[in-house]
Amino acid sequence: MPITFSNVFYTYNPKTPLENAALNGVDLTIEDGSFTAIVGRTGSGKSTMVQMINALLSPSQGEVVVNEFINAADKKKRTKKLYKVRGQVGLVFQFPEYQLFADTVEKDVAFAPKNFGLKEEEALEEAHKALREVGLDESFDKRSPFELSGGEKRRVAIAGILAFHPNILVVDEPTAGLDPRGAFQMMELFEKVHKAGTTVILVTHDMNIVLRYADRVLVVDNGKIVRSSDPETLFFEDIEKYSLETPLLYSFVKGLSKRGFPLDPGKIHDVDSLAAEIAAKKGDKR
Ligand SMILES: Nc1ncnc2c1ncn2[C@@H]1O[C@H](COP(=O)(O)OP(=O)(O)O)[C@@H](O)[C@H]1O
Ligand SMILES: [Mg+2]
Repeated sequence: MPITFSNVFYTYNPKTPLENAALNGVDLTIEDGSFTAIVGRTGSGKSTMVQMINALLSPSQGEVVVNEFINAADKKKRTKKLYKVRGQVGLVFQFPEYQLFADTVEKDVAFAPKNFGLKEEEALEEAHKALREVGLDESFDKRSPFELSGGEKRRVAIAGILAFHPNILVVDEPTAGLDPRGAFQMMELFEKVHKAGTTVILVTHDMNIVLRYADRVLVVDNGKIVRSSDPETLFFEDIEKYSLETPLLYSFVKGLSKRGFPLDPGKIHDVDSLAAEIAAKKGDKR
């Protein structure tokens, strides 16, 4: 089932001097199996939105539906035991490294699968598989998560989510602060998880990543969705309307177009497809 938000509002600290309207009528649909990017300036409401998908927050008004779970402002409409949605939605926070807690890496990663009903041994087996997937070898299993580097901690946190095989994976700025190679490896991992059938929802500021990996992009501004599009159309046709950066590849494509060498942006989402499109166009001109 798709994920839907219907007229969702959210206010932090209502009826206090710190009252802050973070979401102001969000409507959206995210299809099963999609790779959806959520973009928009800092403070626009992205993290607030994604925390509703696994019911860490409930709307102040409106409702969010995820599979058979209804997270509505109206408590009577809300699914009982709504927290069970967390068995289907894996949410990796912005800075998940702050949420590690166990005394060894493997115990930290095994926590969720154990919590969702696996025996200790099976949970550890899932933990080891997930750790290998995120690129941490056996030597990490018994180490304390607190003595790892920032990037390693983040991998442990992501392994902790992958270990219980959610059918929806939500990642909030997972590449922020990673070196380019670390960021690339992480994105390749999410792509692999996506290809295995998981719906992936990615909050990011990196438009190159959006163009390369996402099949859908939602632009958030001031607590509302102001655009829902495929990345190619957004970046080629009307990026100026939003304060987003143009992906590097598209700046190049636009530069070529200005010089009388137009390419089909719909076919371009990475360096290889750009090269293929240039070669094909060159062939046409011969
Ligand atoms: N725990 C909180 N308490 C009060 N206000 C918050 C809290 N978290 C976020 N906000 C506010 O809600 C708005 C949306 O924040 P957020 O969803 O974190 O945006 P984004 O993820 O797009 O940067 C901002 O104005 C932010 O300051
Ligand atoms: Mg955020």
